[in-house]
Amino acid sequence: MHNTAEAAIPADFEAFRKRAYQLTGLDLTSYKAPQMHRRLTALLQRQKIASFAEYARVLETDAQRRQEFKDYVTINVSEFFRDGDRFGELERRILPMLLGGGAGLRVWSAGCSIGAEPYSVSILLHEQAPGRNHSILATDIDQTILDRARAGAGYLATDLRNAGAERIRKWFIATPDGKFSVGPAPRTPIRFQKHDLLRDPYPKGPFDLVACRNVVIYFTEEAKDRIYQGFVNSLASGGVLFVGGTEAIMRPQALGLTVLGPGFYRKA
Ligand SMILES: C[S@@+](CC[C@H](N)C(=O)[O-])C[C@H]1O[C@@H](n2cnc3c(N)ncnc32)[C@H](O)[C@@H]1O
Repeated sequence: MHNTAEAAIPADFEAFRKRAYQLTGLDLTSYKAPQMHRRLTALLQRQKIASFAEYARVLETDAQRRQEFKDYVTINVSEFFRDGDRFGELERRILPMLLGGGAGLRVWSAGCSIGAEPYSVSILLHEQAPGRNHSILATDIDQTILDRARAGAGYLATDLRNAGAERIRKWFIATPDGKFSVGPAPRTPIRFQKHDLLRDPYPKGPFDLVACRNVVIYFTEEAKDRIYQGFVNSLASGGVLFVGGTEAIMRPQALGLTVLGPGFYRKA
């Protein structure tokens, strides 16, 4: 049985979703159809592909385009306290070290997607150093996702699976539709702003912590070097760069960074 939203799905897109699943294992039906249809239509236009049927044929024959497609679709994936081990390390070791000076922290979450990352950092700061004047700049290239992040609402229980029941009770509001909104406190230090890491000038900061996780993975090494150099310039001395669970900086010392542990680098 199709519900009303499903009934509105154009037939060619419906067929494409099935084929894409066979070809890539990506279940597009788990994504909201109107948004996904809009995003993929924009992608097809950019790539000068006339129809979803033609795009399916491209994906059939070209492994690289299949990978591109998967990256495109999953690009906004995020969750609160993503990579629990790393967030544990941030909580137990990195933040206490940075907070040692007694001042509020200046944080930049670059590529913040739905806001889960900056809100998670904000929660830790509220827990560890309430009442201090913290500031968190949260940026992303994607205005639509940034608007969602700013709204701080409509999160699923699965987005919060790493938060733990206690934190959910304390920092979130359950809404009647079974979803969750971020409560008022974690929102206060955060400023959301559109920013393209590849094109825009970097904020001067200086930041005590820059988190850029699961953003640069699809970029070239040359682009990564430029981005990491930009982060180093924006960090205060002694400030920390926090990267994603599968990411590592190749030559940290060439950038003036020392390794604090997996995922964490400190500006000398
Ligand atoms: C996979 S999400 C990562 C979200 C979060 N950092 C995390 O680890 O859960 C990647 C985000 O990077 C953003 N992004 C991609 N290219 C970007 C660019 N050039 N400048 C800024 N943000 C970018 C995407 O819009 C997306 O929201």
